[in-house]
Amino acid sequence: MIVLGIESSCDETCAAIVKDGTSILSSVIASQIDVHHKYGGVVPELASRMHVEAITPVVDEAISKANIILEDIDAVAATRGPGLIGALLVGFTFAKSFAWARHLPFAGVNHLEAHIYSLFLMDSKPDFPFIALVVSGGHTNIYHVTSYDNFELMGQTRDDAAGEAFDKVAKMLELGYPGGPIIERIAKTKDPAVITFPRTMLEKGSFDFSFSGLKSSVARYIHDNHIVTADEKAQIAASFQEAVIDVLTQKLILAAQHKNCRNIGISGGVSANKTFVNKLTQKATSKKIDIFAPPIELCGDNAAMIAARGYTMIQQGQLCHLDHDVFSRTKID
Ligand code: KG4
Ligand code: ZN
Repeated sequence: MIVLGIESSCDETCAAIVKDGTSILSSVIASQIDVHHKYGGVVPELASRMHVEAITPVVDEAISKANIILEDIDAVAATRGPGLIGALLVGFTFAKSFAWARHLPFAGVNHLEAHIYSLFLMDSKPDFPFIALVVSGGHTNIYHVTSYDNFELMGQTRDDAAGEAFDKVAKMLELGYPGGPIIERIAKTKDPAVITFPRTMLEKGSFDFSFSGLKSSVARYIHDNHIVTADEKAQIAASFQEAVIDVLTQKLILAAQHKNCRNIGISGGVSANKTFVNKLTQKATSKKIDIFAPPIELCGDNAAMIAARGYTMIQQGQLCHLDHDVFSRTKID
């Protein structure tokens, strides 16, 4: 079965062609970062307008790169939520219209479930049951995944998402947007132990996160120490990043031990952070736990993961109809 996947929940217009749920024939990502960069974050109305401009060329490119013709497409899947409503509507409505015009089955995919599915697009996949972390600009969620359809939410952030904390700290340091990749790059030259920022672990037994205290602590440090030089900023970046990584790593290993899982999979934009992946792998290996992290092109938002999730939904008859709509917030469990 050849599925056309479409993703437009935030600031990337994406289309992909995936065969039988696992084989990526093409995956096209049109990023809007250059437009939002100067505002220090995503401007929702601008994002919607840019999706409108990009959607048709991006889908055309995905079809031509996959070396198929329109008639080869058997089904369509698009992100239904969570995300920015105006942005979601563009991809979802395009996909719905495409499916209706061509009499194809259509699945409306949960973006968070799709991030977990990016783990199933790798050659080496985690075994069920496993612990999954979806860590991005909008979410820091830990799941106990027991099958292709069963995702038990074990914990989530009570305030900022980890990626959001990276973006906000980068903004405080006037480093640009998105903050994660910049912070990771400049942090490389510094010893993270030089400044100790707080690691909020919350009450014992909780798998929830809180990053707002860390963010405030960094803001206070910048203010009190009159941070201005690139060297000082790099030091803060390294120590801040280490604090985030420590919390994510500890909670993930605790979650795996709690559920007796030998595999942990991470996905979402922040899972592109190699310092995180390396530290998590090192700590987990000592506890005999294996770590699975997708290649960089599957970490952030992409449509291959949407097509992969859509494939299983379509096979199980979980279809969307013309009167179905997008949603901005949800949890999966
Ligand atoms: O999954 P994603 O592309 O979009 C959302 O669904 O949010 O994630 C974007 C987030 C941003 O906050 C960005 O700063 C963060 O992922 N990010 C990183 C890295 N690359 C992207 N955070 C830390 N280190 C990175 N290398
Ligand atoms: Zn995402």
